[in-house]
Amino acid sequence: MLSYRHGFHAGNFADVLKHTVLVAVLDYLGRKAKPLFYIDTHAGAGSYDLGSEFAQKKREYLTGIGRLWDVAEAPAAVSRYLDCVRLANAGGALKCYPGSPAIARALLDGTDRLILFERHGNEAEALRRWAVGDRRLTVREEDGFAGCIGLLPPPSRRALLLIDPAYEIKSDYEQVVKTLAAAHRRFATGVYMLWYPVVERARVERMVEAIKATGIRRIARFELGNAPDSDGFGMTASGVVIINPPFVLGGQMDEALPWLVDRLSESGEGWFRSETLVGE
Ligand SMILES: C[S@@+](CC[C@H](N)C(=O)[O-])C[C@H]1O[C@@H](n2cnc3c(N)ncnc32)[C@H](O)[C@@H]1O
Repeated sequence: MLSYRHGFHAGNFADVLKHTVLVAVLDYLGRKAKPLFYIDTHAGAGSYDLGSEFAQKKREYLTGIGRLWDVAEAPAAVSRYLDCVRLANAGGALKCYPGSPAIARALLDGTDRLILFERHGNEAEALRRWAVGDRRLTVREEDGFAGCIGLLPPPSRRALLLIDPAYEIKSDYEQVVKTLAAAHRRFATGVYMLWYPVVERARVERMVEAIKATGIRRIARFELGNAPDSDGFGMTASGVVIINPPFVLGGQMDEALPWLVDRLSESGEGWFRSETLVGE
């Protein structure tokens, strides 16, 4: 029985990394007027009430967005991310955390399309309720790994695909590679963003090596850690692999990541990584 619900984790330090990168990529892609397809293979519930029983159980947001909420100044990429979170909290207090669908919806315009996959009934139901009334959004209650492939290439030949599984099933580490390879075969110029937790470093590196072995070029990765790698203490870091990143992204993250380490590291053992995995 799978039990993952993103509501327990919304706004934690891993969401800060994922969503800071997401905002930077969407901002860049939004500069062109041509319609964009945003495909979220693992969309979650859309938006999260931080006062809910889920969020309050471990209050992970307090060591993520909670540490950034009141800052007056931040590097440009973090500042843009904070704008999106503030937009979701019109009253001025941090009560709600926007998931990836909410961030994308806020940044995309009237001609763009959002296709949101969520396989689990409760989350899909919440997502449908959240999405109601916006005709740009389609919610599909099905497997996002399989479902995304048939959408490529999109009619406008512009797409961002976010793959953000829970990795509750260990085969997800192989499935993400297969999905990236299949999607890229159909649409080589799309932008592909993959999030992963660093729980077991060896498993992550096997996945990254497998991505490199696909032969796909132009791949970057960013990681943000709270503690040194360790196989015994849960998630110590998380990362994002991105294929065909905007050329400005590396510079933006080189500025944002050290700043985030300073703000988010609980133990003073925080660290980051920003690298090109495969060049042009
Ligand atoms: C990490 S959460 C997504 C968080 C969301 N992308 C965000 O950033 O706000 C992963 C979600 O994927 C869903 N899920 C798990 N396996 C799936 C699959 N094969 N296809 C679609 N959704 C799946 C889970 O129910 C969960 O809601």
